[in-house]
Amino acid sequence: MATLDSVLVRAKDIALDARREMTARPVGHLDVSVRASRLDDSGVGAEAAMQNLMADYGAEFSASAGPRYLGFVTGGTTPAALAADWLVSAFDMNTGIPGDSAAAAVSVEAHGWLKDLFNLPRDEFDGAFTTGATGANLMSLVAARQWAGERAGIDIAEEGVAAGPPIKVFSTTPHSSFVKAARLIGLGAKVIQAVGAVDDTEAMDAGALDAALSEAPAELQKIVCASAGTVTGTAFDDLPEIAAVCRKHEAWLHVDGAFGLFARAVPEMAHLAAGAELADSIAVDGHKWLNVPYDCGFYFTRHIDVLERSSGPLPVYLDVGSDLPYYVNRSTEMSQRFRALPVWMTLKAYGAEGVREIVRANCRQAALLGDWIDAQEHFRLLLPVGLNVVCFQAVAPQGCDPGDFNIRLMEAVNRSGKVIVTPGAYGGQPGIRAAFSNWITRDEDVAVICTALSDAYASLLS
Ligand SMILES: Cc1ncc(COP(=O)(O)O)c(C=O)c1O
Repeated sequence: MATLDSVLVRAKDIALDARREMTARPVGHLDVSVRASRLDDSGVGAEAAMQNLMADYGAEFSASAGPRYLGFVTGGTTPAALAADWLVSAFDMNTGIPGDSAAAAVSVEAHGWLKDLFNLPRDEFDGAFTTGATGANLMSLVAARQWAGERAGIDIAEEGVAAGPPIKVFSTTPHSSFVKAARLIGLGAKVIQAVGAVDDTEAMDAGALDAALSEAPAELQKIVCASAGTVTGTAFDDLPEIAAVCRKHEAWLHVDGAFGLFARAVPEMAHLAAGAELADSIAVDGHKWLNVPYDCGFYFTRHIDVLERSSGPLPVYLDVGSDLPYYVNRSTEMSQRFRALPVWMTLKAYGAEGVREIVRANCRQAALLGDWIDAQEHFRLLLPVGLNVVCFQAVAPQGCDPGDFNIRLMEAVNRSGKVIVTPGAYGGQPGIRAAFSNWITRDEDVAVICTALSDAYASLLS
């Protein structure tokens, strides 16, 4: 029987190898199959299980935490965050209920540091950690829904949405996770009313919002979902203007800043997300630009009391008489992983300046790729590079459907093992997205990405 020492040392060796070869390991594996074996009655022991795992699947573990994984918006894991994540499992403390460990206290401290990082007033916002920005959007919308009910004298958590007042959410480019949240909590996707955009962008037109809210019936409870960085166009809504419109019409303002809120950490970019401090709720991701491991997100709200009311009273066995937050009432889960610890360690280890360096580097790399694309005959930008996302199109040869050609190009790039990109579309044009959000990406990686794109294009013509 292996000892704990030998198992952990073996795991450390595998992890170290993985990290050392992260830039060389294939970025993605497109054809992975399930080994359909049956469960054995007796186990093989932890060390042998680890050997089996690496033999069966190890070669197909991808470098999605590596420098050239540009799909979706995918962060990596810094050494401090990785070490913290190991400690989370070693101590395995439940953060949902306070009173028997420092986990809730560390969470409060880390959440406070995040407010400092994003320049949010400490005393005005509270919140919690979630599984990601989806969870943060969900909890924010739960709070807004409860607020809407209470304004009409109805406790929606108790009575249900059907008993509540009419509610509408106004948004221009809501992320799919926000729409999913509306579906999940019984408001329905159709609760979202589209608001016109500024010119050809994904950003909300504050005048159009004002007009829509003015036309809304008096009894309607209004929630506005604004964006600080849309996932493809990286558009930032004009938050000060939108906040003023929300104040005028007594609407709840939610800001989805999954990755865009990080602009507030960087002085020369902070203007992009100015006004987020006026929001009622803000959703942000940890496993994107903060480069902590999956899964981690967090939200900030001015109305934590409203959110806690929507979660309901604590049963006797959970009420341990602590003054610390009962995160059980601020999140969907009762028992919770100690997600705050990798955040705490990251901010302690690297400080706000460490985060700024990552954001600046990734934006510079996106700009470099954008410049290269702009100079190519076979590629064109679908919009100017604004932050960390490059959205572009491969120009299809005569007679080829642009949508089909771009999908085939994306597959050819992704099969190279050098880069992963994902589909994008902008202004009705099909294309490809490349999002930079990893701390180990270097400017030199951009040259590798450009070569992979050129080679893939050539391979489709040959
Ligand atoms: C703007 C925005 N909101 C929400 C999300 C959902 O985040 P997660 O996948 O971490 O739940 C994303 C993910 O890309 C996003 O870009």
